[in-house]
Amino acid sequence: MLTPTITTYMASHHKECDEQFARAEESVANDDWEQGLEQWSEFAKELESHFSREEDILFPEFETATGMTGGPTQMMRMEHEQMRALVVEINKAAESKDKDQFLALTETLMITMQQHNMKEEQILYPMTDQSLSNAVEIIERMRNNQAS
Ligand SMILES: [Fe+2]
Ligand SMILES: [Fe+2]
Repeated sequence: MLTPTITTYMASHHKECDEQFARAEESVANDDWEQGLEQWSEFAKELESHFSREEDILFPEFETATGMTGGPTQMMRMEHEQMRALVVEINKAAESKDKDQFLALTETLMITMQQHNMKEEQILYPMTDQSLSNAVEIIERMRNNQAS
């Protein structure tokens, strides 16, 4: 079996989140609010879980290993805050079943998320794999975080 890397593990979780996001968006676009709201809240939970794996486990490990505390991880944390703010706005649109607003905001979130994930997958995660020798243990901790 191939040794798992941070890059492959985290990129596959990005993909899972993307798929949940697409399902929610599609349901709302088809006026299926009942299903759409449920899928949206599942996605929002998974996204928050992803952010917390990064902010609570992965980024601190990277910062400790490299001494880089004000660089790429700082930028990523800021972008997480931007996405959290969008999620709050989308929750409001979802509550009032405002389809146009929901779809406009989710479009913005999707673009932000794509750009963010691309930076992580092409730059930050590979840097993390290069600078950390305990990737397997860190992936295990992130997996456990997921279950909690
Ligand atoms: Fe991130
Ligand atoms: Fe990520």
